[in-house]
Amino acid sequence: MERKYDPIGVFDSGVGGISVLRELMRRMPHESFVYYGDSANAPYGARTPEDVCALTDAHVQQLIDRGAKAIVIACNTATGVAIRFLREKYTQIPIIGMEPAIKPAVQAYPGGRVLVMATPLTLSSPRFRTLMNAHAERAQIIPAPCSKLARMIENGRLDGEELEEYLRAELADFLNTPPDAVVLGCTHYPFAADTIQRVTKAKELFDGGAGTAREAQRQLSLRGWLAKESQRGSVTILNSDSDLAHLRFCERLLGMDADK
Ligand code: DGL
Repeated sequence: MERKYDPIGVFDSGVGGISVLRELMRRMPHESFVYYGDSANAPYGARTPEDVCALTDAHVQQLIDRGAKAIVIACNTATGVAIRFLREKYTQIPIIGMEPAIKPAVQAYPGGRVLVMATPLTLSSPRFRTLMNAHAERAQIIPAPCSKLARMIENGRLDGEELEEYLRAELADFLNTPPDAVVLGCTHYPFAADTIQRVTKAKELFDGGAGTAREAQRQLSLRGWLAKESQRGSVTILNSDSDLAHLRFCERLLGMDADK
C-alpha cells in the first residue's frame, strides 16, 4: 500500500512534545504531521502506569484512524510505561518513542557527572533502569526526579522567579558540585532550558528530540514510506483541552504565530 503521503502522528501529555515535533519538522520538512496534545489529562507523571497505557492506547487509535503511517510518542513518561504494550498491539506501523539522551551525554563527558531530570514515573520505569545500567560504568549518572516541572511548563512558566525557585529547591541535593551534563528527560523541559542551565550551571544540556526524529526518519526510510521532496509539508495541531489556551500555546511554541 502507498503510504508515502500519509501523515506522521505525534502525541504527548500536553505541549511538551512540540519540542520533538520541531525536530521532526526540521529533519523531514516534506512530511505532514498530526500532533495531539492531551493537555486535559496532563501531567502523565502524576498518573498510574495503567492510566497512561489506557490514555496512550486511545491516542494511537485516534491517530491511526486519521491515517497515520507512523506514531511518535513525544513523551518520555508515556514511552517508559506504554511503548511495549503499544508495539505489541499495533504491529502494522512503526511506533517510535523517546529515550533520555544519556548516551550522547556520557559520550561527551566520559567519567563526568550526568544529571538526568525527568518525571518520577519515567525514572522509576524498568526501561529507564536498563538504560541507566547500560551506561553506569562510564559516568556518574544521577537521576533527579522533578515532580512539578512538567506541570509548571504546561501552565506556561518557561522562566521567571517562581520556576527558578522551584528548580533550586528540587535540585538542591544534586548541585553542590555542578554537573557536567544535564539530560532533559521530559519533552516539556527544553522550553525551560535557559532557566535550567542557569540554575544547574551545567556545561551542556542534552535532550532526546533530535535522536527520536532521526529514528523516525530511519524507520520510514526502511519501509520506503518517506514523502517525496516535491511534497509540501504540513502540520495539524489538536488538543484535548476544550478551552483553546493549550492549542494556542502549542502553536506559539512551534513558532506558528510568529507573523500574526
Ligand atoms: N512530556 C512528558 C514527558 O516527556 C511530560 C510528562 C508529564 O506529563 O508528566 O515525560
